[in-house]
Amino acid sequence: MKKLIIVGVAIAASAALALSGCSSRTDSTGASSGAAGFAADATVGVALPAKTSENWVLAGGLFSDGLAKAGFKANVQYAAATGTVADQQNQITSMVTNGAKVIIIGAQDGGQLSAQVKAAHDAGAVVIAYDRLILNTANLDYYLAFDNFKVGVLQGQALLDGMKAKYPTNKTYNIELFSGSPDDNNAGVFFNGAMSVLQPKIDDGTLKVVSGQTAVAQTATQGWLAQNAQSRMDTLLAGNYASADLNGVLSPNDTLGRAIITSVKAAGKPLPIVTGQDSEVESVKSIMAGEQYSTIYKDTRALVAQAIVMVQDLQKGKKPEINDTKSYNNGSKIVDTYLLPPVLVTKANAAQSYANNPALLALTK
Ligand code: BGC
Repeated sequence: MKKLIIVGVAIAASAALALSGCSSRTDSTGASSGAAGFAADATVGVALPAKTSENWVLAGGLFSDGLAKAGFKANVQYAAATGTVADQQNQITSMVTNGAKVIIIGAQDGGQLSAQVKAAHDAGAVVIAYDRLILNTANLDYYLAFDNFKVGVLQGQALLDGMKAKYPTNKTYNIELFSGSPDDNNAGVFFNGAMSVLQPKIDDGTLKVVSGQTAVAQTATQGWLAQNAQSRMDTLLAGNYASADLNGVLSPNDTLGRAIITSVKAAGKPLPIVTGQDSEVESVKSIMAGEQYSTIYKDTRALVAQAIVMVQDLQKGKKPEINDTKSYNNGSKIVDTYLLPPVLVTKANAAQSYANNPALLALTK
């Protein structure tokens, strides 16, 4: 017993040494950043992906304002709409060269940033994956996101609940499944969360995926682009629903949900239950109008605020708070993670869910 405790202390001591080693790195100007972590007016880089949904648009402004208010120099960049991977890689590289002390990354392609993350780490910067995990690198320091698996669980349950309410006499339901972009780690996590609810109902015959397309690769929407979801829905309808009714569609986010609704309307079919995510303005309107069934509220203000708290802790030489040390294995290690809770929103609870957000609340009146 005694021996064990001593071993524990030795590990703690060496961890403390390793930590203090990190916080007294020398920056690119040759000045030591000292035990305090780094200068209170240091540069913080924020590399965001292409603006494929409203949350990303909001995040850029919130990071610029919030970091400036906290006394940091903010360098916020978005990947371009095309050529996005190389664009983001270059942006991160120049943040490293310019001496950013923390680099916050919303990955365009989570599998293609390990070289840039290593360069950042080697230069003494702390790297935080924001919203989307970065894969196959031990140099990633933290991950901050909403609970992505829970998002999927809520979507799957909403699909079931919505269909039960809309088709009270049905014993079985015809559905189709959509997932997000394969280069975004979240896409698979959302899908797995949803399938943890839906697969047992597919197995017991309650749900029928009429197209037979249930593998994540078959359901993928490259680039999270609306046009890709819309044309897949067009094809699914033409090939499988000439006579069958479509009761529900699992959509991983609002942009794609609206594209699916557009496709169903164009085919002259009655609207099925369609899920979503992000609480985008047009989707909240659609929910209030009785078209889209559900969305997920992931308050971007809260996620950005948490990221800035992490930066402030790091600046003081403190380890940022984490609340999950098991869920996110990025292929090289289990990443220290902080997860925020997502909220399911339907017409019934929209006003209550958006009570803290005047812009969204106004849409529910
Ligand atoms: C985000 C979603 C968003 C999607 C498309 C995901 O990584 O978590 O909120 O809908 O990207 O932009």
